[in-house]
Amino acid sequence: MIDITVIGFGNVGSSLCLLLLNNKHPLRLNVMEPDKQAEGAFLDLAHGMPLYPGKELHVNNEDLFLNADFIFFTAGVPNLHGGSRLSTAKQNIQLSKDIFEHRTFSKIPYVIVITNPVDIISHSVYQFSGLPSDHVIGTGTFLDSVRLNYYLSTLSNYKANDFDAFVLGEHGSSQVPAFSMTKLKGQSILDNSAFSTQDLELAKKLTKTAAYQIRETQPGTTYGVSKCAEVLLDYLLGTEEHLLALSMLTNEHYRKLLNLDHDIYIGMPVKLKKGNIEVYNEINLSVEEREAYCKSAAILAEIILND
Ligand SMILES: NC(=O)c1ccc[n+]([C@@H]2O[C@H](COP(=O)([O-])OP(=O)(O)OC[C@H]3O[C@@H](n4cnc5c(N)ncnc54)[C@H](O)[C@@H]3O)[C@@H](O)[C@H]2O)c1
Repeated sequence: MIDITVIGFGNVGSSLCLLLLNNKHPLRLNVMEPDKQAEGAFLDLAHGMPLYPGKELHVNNEDLFLNADFIFFTAGVPNLHGGSRLSTAKQNIQLSKDIFEHRTFSKIPYVIVITNPVDIISHSVYQFSGLPSDHVIGTGTFLDSVRLNYYLSTLSNYKANDFDAFVLGEHGSSQVPAFSMTKLKGQSILDNSAFSTQDLELAKKLTKTAAYQIRETQPGTTYGVSKCAEVLLDYLLGTEEHLLALSMLTNEHYRKLLNLDHDIYIGMPVKLKKGNIEVYNEINLSVEEREAYCKSAAILAEIILND
């Protein structure tokens, strides 16, 4: 059985738990949530357990946390309505410190960070946990890339999964849609006459403002990111190779590309296969994309430096 701990049983954590219970892998799911108000929702989830063969459900089990193969970090203060993801940084950095500092894990778990600002919190989980950087992964711009696929499909007759879009940089306002890397049925989208420059600009804008649009009628975004996190589990356990954008620690190549003098977590392309995570260096961005990527990196670097 795969041991999974989900930290936080709020909107994202509970939606992710449901996806994990429906996932094909046999797994022992442990949920860490201190809020007594969540007890009813947890009981509600537990009542379905006889209908999830191959699954176990536990709550606040410290031993299972320290013995986890995968940890999903969803605990945190949600963004204020209309506020930037960066506004919650200080409180969520402290939370990641409380949860990960001085912990001794029996295995080397993968920690998949969802808590915002996800690039900053991934960096603090990496620092406080002492885990190797390729075991601390932020969902980062994976969600934005998936959203871009979705919007490109709404502007055309293609299906969302015909696209392989890449959004790099901060999971936030300075994100960088990289059309130079975006493919439609394996070909560069820039070579496809179905998309005008105006279409691409519109898809970019819709992607960037998606979270604000969702928050006009919802307390926060939930389902898209939960699905991204569950898919990451499948990719890490599977045998196929996947190239996607995730928030990872910069290597020498990205430090140079982004004019950084210290490492940061930021959305970048990575290859995933059978538990191996490899940062993908072979990218050819346009001049404008590279400039925007450097600006996004500078924003994140300043927050990390000033913390
Ligand atoms: N990366 C993304 O794309 C993305 C998308 C959506 C939400 N988020 C972020 O995910 C986080 C959670 O969002 P949400 O909507 O589920 O918020 P929420 O308020 O519904 O849930 C957060 C939960 O964390 C719990 N918590 C607080 N301290 C804890 C601790 N020490 N241990 C365990 N649990 C603790 C709270 O009790 C609460 O139940 C936020 O930071 C949000 O901004 C990120």
